[in-house]
Amino acid sequence: MKIAVLGYGTIGSGVVEVLETNKESISKRAGEEISVKYVLDLRDFPGNPIEDILVHDFATIAEDEEVGCVVETMGGTEPAYSYVKECLLRGKSVCTSNKALVAKHGAELLEIARQKKINFLFEASVGGGIPIIRPLNESLTSEQILEINGIVNGTTNYILTKMSREGATFEAALKEAQNLGYAERNPEADVEGHDAGRKLAILASLSYGKQVDFEDIYMEGITKITDTDFKYAEVLGAEIKLLAQGKMVDGNFYAMVAPKMIKEENPLYSVRGVFNSILVKGNTLGEVMFYGSGAGKLPTASAVVADVIEATKHQGQNIVTIWSNKKLEPANHDEMENSFFVRVPAADAAKAKEVFGDIAEVSANVAGEFAFVTKKMTEKAFEEKAACMTVLNRIRTEWEA
Ligand code: HSE
Repeated sequence: MKIAVLGYGTIGSGVVEVLETNKESISKRAGEEISVKYVLDLRDFPGNPIEDILVHDFATIAEDEEVGCVVETMGGTEPAYSYVKECLLRGKSVCTSNKALVAKHGAELLEIARQKKINFLFEASVGGGIPIIRPLNESLTSEQILEINGIVNGTTNYILTKMSREGATFEAALKEAQNLGYAERNPEADVEGHDAGRKLAILASLSYGKQVDFEDIYMEGITKITDTDFKYAEVLGAEIKLLAQGKMVDGNFYAMVAPKMIKEENPLYSVRGVFNSILVKGNTLGEVMFYGSGAGKLPTASAVVADVIEATKHQGQNIVTIWSNKKLEPANHDEMENSFFVRVPAADAAKAKEVFGDIAEVSANVAGEFAFVTKKMTEKAFEEKAACMTVLNRIRTEWEA
C-alpha cells in the first residue's frame, strides 16, 4: 500500500513517525507493507528525511494511481474538502483527523466512499487516540444509543484541571496547553466549546445515523469559569468539566456542550489533564466508557495510522457506516431540564430565595456573595428566574437541590 500524507504539521509528521517506529508490526497487521510515497505541504523542510518525497502540488498525488490511500491532516474545510473529495472520486481511500471536515461533509464523503467501494475513515477526529468511532460503528452496532456524555476537548480539560488542582489562572493554563501543542490554531474553537461541539456532532451523527449539524448544537465554553467558582466546587466536592452531551428522550434529541459540575459518582469526574473520555449508554448494554489521550501528536497520529491499516485490510470493500444526509435537529434547548449552581451578590439573597424557592445554599466564605444550587427546571424557566436578579455566574449541576 502506497500512501500520501496531506499536511506535514503536528499530526501529519506524527503519522510518518508512527509508521516508521512501528513499521514491522504495522505491515504484519495490515497484511502488506505500508509506505509513504508523498508528503504534501506548502513549506520546505530542508534536511528532513521527508525532503525526497515532499511535493507542493496536490495533482501529483491525485493523478498517481499507485497511491491507494491518502491521509488528510491539513485541518480546516478548504482545501481539505476539495482534496479529499477528489481522492475519493479517484478511488483512493481517505483517513483524516480533521473534525471540521468530517462534521460538515461526513455524510457526503461516506456516500462517495460507499459508491466507490473504498473507505473514508476518521477515528482521530474525535478523542485523539481514543478508539470511539470504530467502536460506535462496529462494536456497539447491536445497541440503540440512549446517551453520550464526553470530555472531548483536551485543551479545556487541561485548563480546568490546572485551575482546579493548582489554582492556575485561565490565561496561564491556556498558554501552557498551546505550548504543549494541544490547542487548535485558533484557541477560541477550544475555549468556546466549538471543537467539542463538532466532535459531538460527529458522535451523534454516527449514533443516530443522521446528519447533526454542529451549528444547531447549544454550545457554551469555559471562558466565564473563574477561580471563585472552583472555591465553591471544592466545598461541594465537585469538579467543573466541559461536557459534550447528546441524548434521546422520548424521540427528542437533545445536544449541548457546556461546563457542568459533576461529583465523584460520575466516572468522568477523575478524567484529568489532556485526557478525554466518552461515556456511552446503550439500551441493552448499559454504560461503556472510553478513556485516553484526547489530543497531542503521537496519540492522534496512532489513530490515523490504525485507519490506514483498516483501509489496507479492506481494499475493494466498503465498511458500512450509517450516517445519512437527512438532518437530525436537536430539540428546543429552552425545554431541556437542568439544575444550576448560581452565585448572586449578597444583596440579592432574599430575592433569590423568593424566586427560586427550594434551593440548597453553598458557603465557601466568599465575601459579598450568596450561592446556591437549584431544583431541576427547564432552561427557559431558569432564564426567567435569573432575570429577576444579578447573576454573577451559573454552572449547570449534575444533582439538584
Ligand atoms: N484542540 C483539540 C483538543 C485537539 O484540545 O482536544 C484534538 O482534537
